[in-house]
Amino acid sequence: MTKPVITVVGSINMDLVTIASRFPSQGETILGEEFHLIPGGKGANQAVAAARLGAEVHMIGAVGTDPFGNELLRSLEREGVHIDNVKPVTHKGTGIASITISEQDNRIIVVPGANHALRPEDIDRYEEIIAKSDVCVLQLEIPLSVVERAVFLAKKHHVRVILNPAPAQPLPQKLIEQADFLTPNEHEREIIFEQVDVDVFADKVIVTEGARGVTIRKDGKQVHIPGFCVPVVDTTGAGDTFNGALAVALSKGMSLEDACRFANAAAALSVTKLGAQGGMPTEEEVKKFLQEKAGCSS
Ligand code: RIB
Repeated sequence: MTKPVITVVGSINMDLVTIASRFPSQGETILGEEFHLIPGGKGANQAVAAARLGAEVHMIGAVGTDPFGNELLRSLEREGVHIDNVKPVTHKGTGIASITISEQDNRIIVVPGANHALRPEDIDRYEEIIAKSDVCVLQLEIPLSVVERAVFLAKKHHVRVILNPAPAQPLPQKLIEQADFLTPNEHEREIIFEQVDVDVFADKVIVTEGARGVTIRKDGKQVHIPGFCVPVVDTTGAGDTFNGALAVALSKGMSLEDACRFANAAAALSVTKLGAQGGMPTEEEVKKFLQEKAGCSS
């Protein structure tokens, strides 16, 4: 069976992860328990999620010509992600994310660095890659002008687009019109539809609700697709795993409901290990998990 081809246009970050017994209050210093450098970035995470699930994945992004950039490229390569379309940037450092993990949750500050050196003209050079994809997946840790260009090219070639609008910003109506699916969480949905009527586009919005699952609209009605209860180690990258898995499942022809259930299972498995990419499952692992959980979701 041919592999789904997925192109991810997005960020590549080194995650600076601190584990602490609680989050510090404003102005307070506390002692942490562990520190880790872990590959991340919403784009790279979604690329790795799709690759682990068996897709042929092309990453379009940018990293600095520095040790973090090098390490992140090697890590993507080890995952089987094609990196020929990742632009090396000399005037900015590789993007980083400062992440604190505590209380079964995380707090993240991203410094985009090289991710913001990506330009719409760069995307034009990668048109051929986008054109031959089954799905193009994007997020908002790169400039909006780049996202708009990539979505325009994807639609020019009738390629399905999943836009994960994170971190959230109000989106132009045209971009929302062009995307096939938007995958905000509840908070992001409020922001991206600040200037646009959400009801007009409700059929393409998949609202992610963490461990509770996701809500879609089908035949004019809200449909809730429940998540799965698992022991939580690190929730970082759960949303990214959902998006990567959704792209794979839709490429394989699953219905939206089945694709969301598959992606919910992948996201649940991802939180059982440390690091955004640490717990991302293979297709066999998701299938086994779904069989085990049949009838006892949430
Ligand atoms: O979604 C999780 C990701 O957000 C982290 O890996 C971090 O790099 C930030 O981009």
